[in-house]
Amino acid sequence: MMNEIRIAVVGVGRRGGHLLELALKTAEKINPVAVCDIDDSHWYKSMKDQLPLSEKFPDTHFYEDFQKMLNNEKIDVLIVETPASIHAGFCAEGLQRNINVLSDIPLVRNYAEAEMLWEAGRKSQAFLMTGANPNEWGFIEAMYDLYQKGLLGKPFYLEAEYIHDIRYLWQATPWRSKGGQPIKYCTHSLGPLLRLLPDDELRKVSCVSTGAHVVGGEGQNDLMTAHFTTQKNVVVRFTASFINEAKCGLHSYRVFGTEGYFERLSDRGHYPARSMFNSKKLYGASKLTELPIDTTRPELPESYLDNVHGGADYVLLYDFFNALRSGNMEKVITLRDGIRMSLPGIFAGESADKGGQIVDIVYPWDKD
Ligand SMILES: NC(=O)c1ccc[n+]([C@@H]2O[C@H](COP(=O)([O-])OP(=O)(O)OC[C@H]3O[C@@H](n4cnc5c(N)ncnc54)[C@H](O)[C@@H]3O)[C@@H](O)[C@H]2O)c1
Repeated sequence: MMNEIRIAVVGVGRRGGHLLELALKTAEKINPVAVCDIDDSHWYKSMKDQLPLSEKFPDTHFYEDFQKMLNNEKIDVLIVETPASIHAGFCAEGLQRNINVLSDIPLVRNYAEAEMLWEAGRKSQAFLMTGANPNEWGFIEAMYDLYQKGLLGKPFYLEAEYIHDIRYLWQATPWRSKGGQPIKYCTHSLGPLLRLLPDDELRKVSCVSTGAHVVGGEGQNDLMTAHFTTQKNVVVRFTASFINEAKCGLHSYRVFGTEGYFERLSDRGHYPARSMFNSKKLYGASKLTELPIDTTRPELPESYLDNVHGGADYVLLYDFFNALRSGNMEKVITLRDGIRMSLPGIFAGESADKGGQIVDIVYPWDKD
């Protein structure tokens, strides 16, 4: 059993800094030995009137060069919090050096990266956990519990929407402003739904884009929507929009099962988000019934509930460190899970480039 856990973070922006601080609250004997960022101001300058991270962690070594950090430091855990399109390389380097990795999502930006990372994972003595915090939201856990107890039956049609006008972040994080395809940011949506399809894979996709109507910038896709089918003929619909004038909340999900139905609709104006279900299998639940839960995990003490993700980040870190110390991988969102929830968005983007043509989805483990 590992005693002290030496952690390093690459990318100490908004999320990297947050997870670094939370890691120390989550488990005992966590030693933050090093961080790396190409922009040292994120380490040395104060954010939002708080002490700079360099002062909060005076014994932690700062590096601008990732290789140098890996060469100089003895690291048990690498937390990858670089921008969304550059996770895989850092993860693979960590795994190649038998360093356990917790990476933000999406894991990969193309199929070649998925293959490379899958290979690195297979050869490594360490493990990677996908930092898919939406999988840990309270209402997703409730949805999963309904499913596991058979109250939804077999899911045959599932939906997710991620509607978030992120133009307010363009100045602070310019990498977000360069257009791109929102459908590729699919892990928050597909991750939770794929928990209900453990023995099935998304295999085909047709996706279309609206193009740029709202701002009209080159390469922008205001909204994209994709239909996936699985090998067991389940249909999954996913819509993503990061440039819009919709003032609704961000995340909605619907599950149509053979024995019941679940939905979580995001907030609408002054109407809060709601999770509802009905089931033929539970006495008294044949009508749509509201569940008293949203993102917040009710089992966690107040001090662990950050105001953004309702404790989901805490659960992620807790499960990761617990797996590392106990060897029990049951709660780990694996490398395979991470690729399963990342790759379909990439193939959806390819379909959109081809005007909605149906594209086959393949996975690195298909060859095995
Ligand atoms: N899971 C969630 O709820 C959630 C929420 C927000 C963001 N994210 C994800 O978290 C990640 C980080 O997002 P953020 O909002 O913290 O962005 P950010 O821009 O604030 O932080 C990214 C950091 O990475 C650094 N960086 C860039 N290239 C680097 C390199 N080559 N080597 C070392 N450092 C490098 C940047 O200087 C910056 O400090 C992204 O992948 C984003 O999609 C996840």
